[in-house]
Amino acid sequence: MIPEAFIQELLARVDIVDVIERHVPLRKAGANFSACCPFHSEKSPSFTVSPSKQFYHCFGCGAHGSAIGFVMQYSGLGFVETVEELAGIAGLQVPKQIAAHREDIAKKAPLTEFMSQAAKFYREQLKASPRAINYLKHRGLSGEIAARFGLGYAPDAWQSLDRVFPDYKAAELTECGLVIDSEQGRRYDRFRDRIMFPILDQRGNVIGFGGRVLDAGEPKYLNSPETPLFEKGRELYGLPQARKAIHDVGSVIVVEGYMDVVGLAQAGVENVVASLGTATTGMHLQKLFRLTDRVVFCFDRDVAGDKAAWRAMETSLDQLADNKSVEILQMEGDQDPDEYIREHGKEAFLKYARNATRLSEFMVRALERQTQPSSAEGRAQLIHAAKPLLQRVTAPVLRVQLTKAIAAIAKLSQEEVEAACSLKPLHLGRRPPPRSAQRPAARSIEHRLLENILHRPERVARLPLELITGDSREEEALRAIAEAVDHGILPVQLSSGSTPIGLLLEHFRGTEHEQTLSQFASMLLTEDDNEEALEEEFTDALERLRHGGLTLAISALSAKERSGGLSAEERRQLATLLAQKTAFAAKGRQDV
Ligand code: UTP
Ligand code: MN
Repeated sequence: MIPEAFIQELLARVDIVDVIERHVPLRKAGANFSACCPFHSEKSPSFTVSPSKQFYHCFGCGAHGSAIGFVMQYSGLGFVETVEELAGIAGLQVPKQIAAHREDIAKKAPLTEFMSQAAKFYREQLKASPRAINYLKHRGLSGEIAARFGLGYAPDAWQSLDRVFPDYKAAELTECGLVIDSEQGRRYDRFRDRIMFPILDQRGNVIGFGGRVLDAGEPKYLNSPETPLFEKGRELYGLPQARKAIHDVGSVIVVEGYMDVVGLAQAGVENVVASLGTATTGMHLQKLFRLTDRVVFCFDRDVAGDKAAWRAMETSLDQLADNKSVEILQMEGDQDPDEYIREHGKEAFLKYARNATRLSEFMVRALERQTQPSSAEGRAQLIHAAKPLLQRVTAPVLRVQLTKAIAAIAKLSQEEVEAACSLKPLHLGRRPPPRSAQRPAARSIEHRLLENILHRPERVARLPLELITGDSREEEALRAIAEAVDHGILPVQLSSGSTPIGLLLEHFRGTEHEQTLSQFASMLLTEDDNEEALEEEFTDALERLRHGGLTLAISALSAKERSGGLSAEERRQLATLLAQKTAFAAKGRQDV
């Protein structure tokens, strides 16, 4: 377990605005900051970050949390790794408990460990194989680039991995795809006599390999199978190495092959990833659009490349926002990017890449080629072919532009194309209604108390806990907060008058209250912190709570009176309660 105090210190040291701004550009919007949500595709910003509450929330997709929650969600790190990363930024020494916890995780994730051991072995074997080294040299790669991509060599033997893993029979070796069990029950290495390209996840763990033959041979590339670690449609080869360049250059080039990534990097073009021999998926694009607004797909000029370009275009249609762009670059002749840059150099490649075709142009031109719109029939076909594509476009301005371009070729008006393609009307510039308008009008007393306490957790000291005995989720959360404050586990900053919600949420991470609290916290971001109104509402809710308590106590005593009579003490109690209730009622009338 990570000590609670450490989490609190950490959250006090890092500012959620800085943490998020490292990945997502934020704009000031009143007391908060806003941006287009990094967790779903949208055109107008509904992602809100509150510096005072140290909390973020997206009104579009509902994503929310503290600085820790953001890093976990954004980079896919686990809790412990996130705490470590943030601690690094804040310059905090990570406590020993965390390190211990880490070893625990390593034990629980042996597959990653197996893969990393294998990768290390293959790297060592490369150093020992003049033939493999020569192959890479022959392809123009330096030792430095080979090291940067962790390239290796799988020896020409059936069971060389038994030198790495004492238990060559371990089930994990099959599970992570390093060995194959034959039908005769013989086990052997999947990769033999191949140049090894390790595939890394975002954190730099080896999750798979691509292995290339050195001479002619089939298949040219052998890849790891899908395993618990490796899901092809999600991963992009070269992403960890390209991340910084993508950020610096402001765009990413997506190529077809391992060697294209490595060859371009060798020539100094580093913002490059490859889609691992599978078609581009929506997941790939989402990942890339989190890093940059501009994605350039680069395809070989052959039948497979043309098909892949069309598929990439289709996939892009529903991932595009109006502030993002997808371009398609088709290589000329029969050279792939690796061959092109080796022959013509970096500048020529970059110049060529600048002429990539915008997605809209690519689509319109491809449709024109397919349908010959010089005749009326051809123009009708054009509309028929455009319909499923236009229907996929979610970026409103882009859709209008595409519709207009197609309308011009088809000799129709924009409205006619929209009708013919059954396009749903788009609302340009419409925003989601403010959250407060969606909130149910009648909120229970407990609901109001919990909201109020999340605004100002120090008010928890004023709660009459003896009256908060129900089993609604609000009451349970209220009791839990009170208890945490009471035990001094949750530091409530009485002086500054505000405890960031992010901190409170982290305290309750993984508990039954987590969901309730984060849901309530999300609702608060749209509201002004009007101190007076909040105090008034709190006092009012407390009075109502006490009044409800009185009513309950009175009816209990009255029932007892009817069924068997009251002791003298109980009678006195009942009289007091009734008097209090009358006073309450009188006050209530005054208030109205
Ligand atoms: P290519 O056949 O275009 O190879 O495959 P390449 O990238 O130019 O490789 P070199 O330059 O000959 O070394 C493109 C990608 O398709 C996948 C691989 O991911 C490869 O990088 N592929 C290709 C396979 O998975 N298996 C194969 O047998 C061939
Ligand atoms: Mn090639």
